[in-house]
Amino acid sequence: MAGGAQDKDGNVGSPAPKQKGRATVDTLKIGCIAMVVKDGKPRKAEILSIKETKSGRQFYCNFDNFNKRLDEWVPTARIDFTQEVEWPSPEKPKETKKAAAPVAKKTVAQKKGQKRPARTREASIASEASTPRPWPEFLESQKATPDPEGEEKLTLALDLDATPGAEEDDPMDVDEVVQSAVAAKAEPPQQYNREEEIEKLRVGGSMTQNQAEISRIRNISKVQFGKYELYPWYFSPYPEAFTQEDLMYICEFCLSYFADNKSYTRHRHKCTLQHPPGNEIYRDDYVSFFEIDGRRQRTWCRNLCLLSKMFLDHKTLYYDVDPFLFYVMTARDEKGFHLVGYFSKEKESVDGYNVACILTLPQFQRKGYGRLLIQFSYELSSIEGKLGSPEKPLSDLGLLSYRQYWTENLVEALIEANETDSKVSIDMLANNLSMTSQDVESTLQALQMQVYHKGEHKIILPMHLIKKHEAMKEKQKTKPKRVIDPSLIQWKPPVFTASSRTWGW
Ligand code: ACO
Ligand code: ZN
Repeated sequence: MAGGAQDKDGNVGSPAPKQKGRATVDTLKIGCIAMVVKDGKPRKAEILSIKETKSGRQFYCNFDNFNKRLDEWVPTARIDFTQEVEWPSPEKPKETKKAAAPVAKKTVAQKKGQKRPARTREASIASEASTPRPWPEFLESQKATPDPEGEEKLTLALDLDATPGAEEDDPMDVDEVVQSAVAAKAEPPQQYNREEEIEKLRVGGSMTQNQAEISRIRNISKVQFGKYELYPWYFSPYPEAFTQEDLMYICEFCLSYFADNKSYTRHRHKCTLQHPPGNEIYRDDYVSFFEIDGRRQRTWCRNLCLLSKMFLDHKTLYYDVDPFLFYVMTARDEKGFHLVGYFSKEKESVDGYNVACILTLPQFQRKGYGRLLIQFSYELSSIEGKLGSPEKPLSDLGLLSYRQYWTENLVEALIEANETDSKVSIDMLANNLSMTSQDVESTLQALQMQVYHKGEHKIILPMHLIKKHEAMKEKQKTKPKRVIDPSLIQWKPPVFTASSRTWGW
C-alpha cells in the first residue's frame, strides 16, 4: 500500500500515529485507510481516488499486501463503515529536494565519465524518478534454503582461481563469494517454498517506490487489440480524453490508438502495416523477431511503450525512445505478424544490461513466450561476445521468469559438467550462458547451491533439482518446449554514431 513508514524518498522512519474514527460515504476521502471487501473477505485498503457514477459513488482502492495491478473501483456497498478508518496524515511542509535524486535520464556520454560504486544499481529508463531496489537486496529477502538433512547432493568443486575478481586489481568479488558462502552457512535457513513465494509475489507490494507513481491509478478500462480484449493492470499516460472511454482501440500493427470504433474501423481500412516496422532477424516455424530502432521508428516505439506501460508497473519510458532498440516477437498467420511480446535494449548500456523492459502481452502469458524472449536476449549477448543482465529492479513476474530461466540453464550446465567430469567455475558458467557472474552467483545462492565448507568452495547440485530437471526432460519428449534456434538468427551487432543514440531533433 502506498502509505506506511516510507517517506516519498523511500526512507524508513517511525510513522506518526494515525488518527482513527468512523467515516461516512461523504467524509471518506483520498488517503483514508478503510476495511473493504475483496474476494469475499474484508481487507485493509487505501482510498486513492473517488468518482461519481450513475450507480453512485465509487472508490479506487489499493489493498494492503496486494500488487497494484489488483487495485480496483469499488462501490460503497463493499466498504465497511461500521469499522473505524485511519485518516490521512496532515500534509507535511514540502522538503527541499535532495540534490542526488535522479530526475532525468543521463546520456550515455554523461554516464560514461562516472565510476559507479560496486554493485549499486540505477534504473536507466528514468524519464520519471523512481528509486530502484537493488537486486542483491531483493534476492536476499527471499533467500532459499539448503535441502532437508541427508538429501543426496552432487558436489562440484568450484575453481576459485577462475572466479571473477580473483585478479589482483579487484579482490572484492572473491571476498564477497567467501562472505556470502559463509553467511549462507551461518544463517539459519529459511524454507524455500515456491508456492509461498509466488503467492507473496502475486499479492506483494508494488515495485514502484515513487509515491507520485503509486498514487497514479489505472486510467484505461479496456482495450480492443486485434481480436483480443485487454484489461490493463496499471496507469499508462495515454491522452486524458482516452481515459473517459469504456473501451479504447489499438491497431495491432501500427499501435495507433483510437477512442471510438468508427475512427478505428476507418483506420483499419487504411492501415497497410502487417508487421513491426523493422528488419526480421529471426524466423522459425513458430515465431519471428524484428529489430526496431527507437530513433527511426519513434512513433511506433512510443506507441509500444504506452501499450506496455499498461502492464509494467515500475518502468517509465514513454518519449525518449531514441537510445533504445526494440526486439519484437511476433506470431505469423495469413493476416500478418501479430505482436506477442518484446524487449527493449539500450543501444549502449554502461551497466551491461541486455534488456531494459520485457513484456509478453497478457493474452499470451504463461505459454513459454517469456522464456523465448529471455533466451533471445542472451543469444544476442552471446553474438556480441558480452555477458548480459536485465535492468533492475525486476518486477515480481520478471523475477519469477528470470529465476526460472537461470535455474534451468545453470542446472543443465552443471549436470553436463558432471557428466563430462569438467571443473566448473562461476566465470565459466557465466561465459557459457552469457550471464553476468553476479546473476550466476545470486541464482546459486538463492538455490543454496553455493557453500563454503572446510576451507573449500563448492557448488552443490541438490538431488531434487536434478530430479526436477530429469522430469522436465522426460516431459519434453512428448511435449517439446519451444526454444530459440541460434543458427536461425540473422543479426550483427549494430554500430551507432553518438548522434543516432540519443535525441536527434
Ligand atoms: N506465476 C508463477 N510463475 C510464473 C508466472 C506467474 N504468473 N509468470 C511466469 N512465471 C515463471 C514460471 O516459472 C514460468 O515457467 P513455467 O510456466 O514453465 O512454470 C516461467 O516464469 C516462464 O514463463 P513464460 O510463460 O515463459 O513467461 P511469460 O510469457 O508469461 O512472460 C513476463 C513473463 C515477460 C515477465 C510476463 O509475465 C510479463 O510480461 N509481465 C508483465 C511485465 C513485466 O513484469 N515484465 C518484467 C519486468 S522486469 C524488466 O523489464 C527487466
Ligand atoms: Zn494501423
